[in-house]
Amino acid sequence: MKPTTTPRTYRVKSFGCQMNVYDGERMAEMLAERGIAPAPEGEEADLVVLNTCHIREKAAEKVYSDIGRLQKADGTKPLIAVAGCVAQAEGEEIMARAPAVSMVVGPQAYHRLPEMLDKAVQGERATDTDMPAIAKFAALPERKKIGPTAFLTVQEGCDKFCTYCVVPYTRGAEISRPYSDLVTEARKLVEAGAKEITLLGQNVSAWGGENDKGQHVGLAGLIRDLAEVDGLARIRYTTSHPADMDDALIAAHGEIDKLMPFLHLPVQAGSDRVLKAMNRSHTVESYLKLLEHFRTARPDIALSGDFIVGFPGETDAEFEETLKVVDAVGYAQAFSFKYSPRPGTPAATMDGQIAKEVMDERLQRLQAALNRDQHAFNAASVGKTCQVLVERKGKHPGQWLGKSPWLQSVWFEGDFAIGDLVEVELVEAGPNSLAGALRQMVALTV
Ligand code: SAH
Ligand code: SF4
Ligand code: F3S
Repeated sequence: MKPTTTPRTYRVKSFGCQMNVYDGERMAEMLAERGIAPAPEGEEADLVVLNTCHIREKAAEKVYSDIGRLQKADGTKPLIAVAGCVAQAEGEEIMARAPAVSMVVGPQAYHRLPEMLDKAVQGERATDTDMPAIAKFAALPERKKIGPTAFLTVQEGCDKFCTYCVVPYTRGAEISRPYSDLVTEARKLVEAGAKEITLLGQNVSAWGGENDKGQHVGLAGLIRDLAEVDGLARIRYTTSHPADMDDALIAAHGEIDKLMPFLHLPVQAGSDRVLKAMNRSHTVESYLKLLEHFRTARPDIALSGDFIVGFPGETDAEFEETLKVVDAVGYAQAFSFKYSPRPGTPAATMDGQIAKEVMDERLQRLQAALNRDQHAFNAASVGKTCQVLVERKGKHPGQWLGKSPWLQSVWFEGDFAIGDLVEVELVEAGPNSLAGALRQMVALTV
């Protein structure tokens, strides 16, 4: 590759889960520290980081077409870095197939992006898909994010090896970041303007560490201590696995006001045979029991889940069982996907791969049921008065958008600033959002 000048502007494009969004923010912070500015909206950047996701569908092909599109009209192109889970899974191949790419960096190695950039400017191509885990966080600059909601990765990786999933291969083994680093990062985020922090992990409920008193604590202990951070109004966490939910976390939902009444707990399927084939260590019964415990601790908790339809071998009758779980739970919201064979995962070579048309039909039925329940949940919220954190301006002057404690989008009018916590009455429900009427501003006494 030809040497080039140091880029003046960057753009990070993140796909996939919230952890990838977090990683994208951290990469942006590193580049900003180097004096590289974010490219203004609508302008081409000198450096583009494609922060990719490998979870479903033709992820790799999408990367190649994105790379192709970065070619500018005059035949030049920006410096291109491919990061994220496709980089981890297919780094070598990307380097071989896409000469336009000068950097390939995995999710555990992106703290080395600035060094790779120095090389790229010299005309050298570099790949780094090492997995030194914790080392990454220590090497990253301090958080400077402003904005009322922030992500904080507390746990990374996955040891669960669900038979359909690439995450254990792209993100490596489960690790927990140290307690003190997390408390420090949370404080920094609050100083930078965050009022709500969402603790992230591929299996966030598997987080564990030693607190400042030398005691071993789980996620509930961390949440309890973060709730003491002045200026932090709300705490959320995602994504949990049914295998790691403990009594302390359930109890925390009943005891900690700052912990929002929302739980995203994927079930994936409603048949015990399918769950076993998926290597999900829960049954339908154990999953439903767990949700009951959360509802007992926090009766208004909003429940969310993930579903896969058309896992290899799933019969019509087994799919019907998934619908039964939906009926039994009454989710406030949920994500549902068609099974997508992932290279290198056990399910990809299992017998009984399901035809696309069958998956389409199942997904439609499932989503109709989930939409029905989401609408019903929103409708049942009408008349409630709740706090909403103002996240951004709406389309019309004087209109604002924020989230209710139950993670519903709420529109309302008034004279506010982003980051205000306001009390609104929910007055009208749509399928995806609610209208609110202002009651009062809530002074932050947190
Ligand atoms: N760690 C989390 C989330 C993992 S990825 C968890 O275990 O719940 C997010 C969701 O993507 C999963 O919950 C699953 O529903 C879906 N998913 C993962 N692999 C998939 C695949 N091969 N095909 C379709 N959906 C998949
Ligand atoms: Fe994937 Fe399962 Fe791990 Fe979630 S728990 S990341 S679905 S392997
Ligand atoms: Fe995608 Fe990787 Fe997240 S595969 S969902 S970006 S962990």
